[in-house]
Amino acid sequence: MTSKTLTVPAVALGTWAWGDSGEAGDGYFGSQLTASGLREVVEKAQANGFTLWDTAVVYGMGHSETVLAQALKGYARSEYQLSTKFTPQAAGDGDDPVAEMLEQSLDRLGTEYVDLYWIHNPADVARWTPLLIPVLRSGKIKHVGVSNHNMKEIALADQILGEAGFRVEAVQNHYSLLYRSSERAGILDHCREHDMRFFSYMVLEQGALTGRYGPAHPLPAGSNRAAAYNGILPKLQVLTDRMGAIGGDRGASAADVATAWAIAKGTTPIIGVTKASYIDGLVRARGIELADEEIAELEALADAADVDTRGWWEHEM
Ligand SMILES: NC(=O)c1ccc[n+]([C@@H]2O[C@H](COP(=O)([O-])OP(=O)(O)OC[C@H]3O[C@@H](n4cnc5c(N)ncnc54)[C@H](OP(=O)(O)O)[C@@H]3O)[C@@H](O)[C@H]2O)c1
Repeated sequence: MTSKTLTVPAVALGTWAWGDSGEAGDGYFGSQLTASGLREVVEKAQANGFTLWDTAVVYGMGHSETVLAQALKGYARSEYQLSTKFTPQAAGDGDDPVAEMLEQSLDRLGTEYVDLYWIHNPADVARWTPLLIPVLRSGKIKHVGVSNHNMKEIALADQILGEAGFRVEAVQNHYSLLYRSSERAGILDHCREHDMRFFSYMVLEQGALTGRYGPAHPLPAGSNRAAAYNGILPKLQVLTDRMGAIGGDRGASAADVATAWAIAKGTTPIIGVTKASYIDGLVRARGIELADEEIAELEALADAADVDTRGWWEHEM
């Protein structure tokens, strides 16, 4: 059995964009991140109680895990939590691809255990979920979750783990003002009822919901996120303006309001942090209480924008 209940900060930190670092302007996000800049992000986050770091093998094919470990150097292992993933599409052809991919992650992360380990997507639930059991028993992973799984897939994974005395402790899905499929499919309710933590990813829609980008200031040219979002930025303007106004009344930004909304919905947002100043936003977001009318208004504006931001890797919930 898993020994301790999963306890997490109000906001987790995402490091997909960190997979870009080292190759200026190149990569999924078109970000230009430096080791010293990421160290500043870590120091500010850790000092403010944001100590759960989410990564994955496939974020820059190991690069995100490597630079995260470098940025966390010097902190005691008990001071931070690591969350990384088994990605079925990157599985090797050995006897136990989950154990093998985990070993490689442990090596890059410079640790003996991962606090929260995910099956990245539901490529074959019946095939991959059972392979979590031996690594849970070994203590190399402390808690498990499933990502991008729909209700049926969550239930199947939970059943498989349940037969061995474990359970799905967390779900990690795309969830933002613009993309509420997990809520509509009843997954948020299911998680609440079954004591599974729901982690929402892409709450800021990779920058498109921050107010920082708009038709006059598009996402970095040539990046994948620019290809996904630049075309819809004009449709988001009314929403992001209103988010900015709601934030402005509280000394906060549109991005902070997006994060506060995800917290208000009972989820743990995983925010992709690329600058130390964004941690100030998380501190503000943690303290914002949105009124029910504000939440309803933002959701109505988001629906009116009528955009589909489903990632190419996601399937119907
Ligand atoms: N399980 C999965 O399949 C899956 C899929 C996607 C993501 N994730 C996880 O979820 C995390 C979050 O998703 P994401 O990184 O793709 O996107 P995101 O959190 O929606 O957006 C991150 C981007 O928003 C901007 N940003 C962040 N904080 C800001 C602030 N306070 N003010 C203004 N702009 C801000 C940054 O862009 P700039 O650098 O351009 O300023 C950053 O790169 C990932 O890092 C990853 O850990 C998981």
